[in-house]
Amino acid sequence: MPIVVAGVLGAMSVVAANSWMNSPAGYTLRHGKITSVDPVSVFFNASTPYETAHMVLAAYMVTGFVVAGVYAVGLLRGRRDRYHRLGFAVPFTLAGLAAPLQVMMGDIIARFIAHNQPVKFAAMEYVSRTTRDAPEWVGGVLINGHVYFGASIPAFDSILAGFSPHTRVIGWDSVPAAQRPALVTLIHLSFDLMVGLGFFLFALAAWQGWWWWFHRRLLVTAWFLVPAALSGVAAVAAMEAGWVVTEVGRQPWIVYRVMLVSDAVTPSRGVPVTLGVILALYAILTVVSIGVPMIMSRRWRQEPPAEEEAEQVPYGPPPARASPAGPPARPAVPPASSGGPDGP
Ligand code: HEM
Repeated sequence: MPIVVAGVLGAMSVVAANSWMNSPAGYTLRHGKITSVDPVSVFFNASTPYETAHMVLAAYMVTGFVVAGVYAVGLLRGRRDRYHRLGFAVPFTLAGLAAPLQVMMGDIIARFIAHNQPVKFAAMEYVSRTTRDAPEWVGGVLINGHVYFGASIPAFDSILAGFSPHTRVIGWDSVPAAQRPALVTLIHLSFDLMVGLGFFLFALAAWQGWWWWFHRRLLVTAWFLVPAALSGVAAVAAMEAGWVVTEVGRQPWIVYRVMLVSDAVTPSRGVPVTLGVILALYAILTVVSIGVPMIMSRRWRQEPPAEEEAEQVPYGPPPARASPAGPPARPAVPPASSGGPDGP
């Protein structure tokens, strides 16, 4: 429990900094100088609750689907032992529960953006002129003010933004050209990708949930396991797309309506050195985190443990069967007879 609380508070602290850049608050500016700061208002600015909730749910989805995806590959390769079934079922359940909450939270945060950062919202939804009955564009590329290769749903953007086709949606024509984001197509497609993947992951979780509800079993058909194996990659892609929407959508501002990115560029000459060190560090971390599991798995294949031993994984569930040395161990989950051959 303390780890969960510390993790959520840590995420909140990091995201609060980004939220402040979207909704600056808690300071007084006089003649270009900050004269007073209220740290509580800085931390709990208008965007903090929305962005924190969205990011914490994203973190649970990414972690859960990535771990479940690894075990889905094992299940696809025919490893149906209890370790693989539990290794899939536990993180998939966690991420699957977060998925519908994330879709709901995404909808709420999008409406908040429509009011709080309308130009970002206009870029997300291709709204060039302030209008009622604004259509919802799915996909499409913006070239010379026209959307190509996209599908438009009449008035749906107005309905999403204010529950009525007559809701007025502010377009990017509301600000001078110099204050509009330059990469509108990137913002829109990143938003579509995030939303599309969010619904894909929700559907995947609902499919397994429905199957579990009626059959009390894990779905182990290739039709389910192949997308499940890709769910981790999909969740990471959705999270990265979300950050693109937040950051590129705020351009040209680094602090919304206070400071331009061009004014925030550091004059320091040490940047290439620190960038090089960080790239080298992450290259080493990447090689180690891929290489170590590969070496471990090769060693495991060369000297496979006995079946009894294989179940006693560090921090893993207790074995379902009694050990000859002691009293019968209590199974961590219902035995296979209640869950069928594919129950976890
Ligand atoms: C399915 C419906 C979804 C909607 C409508 C939605 C909506 C949004 C919006 C409007 C933003 C911009 C927030 C801002 O600039 O303040 C955003 C950001 C973000 N989204 Fe989503 N999102 C959805 C799904 C997802 C999913 C599935 C993930 C990841 C698993 C995700 C991860 C993120 C992240 C990491 C950010 C940036 C940080 C933050 O604002 O918390 N989103 N999303």
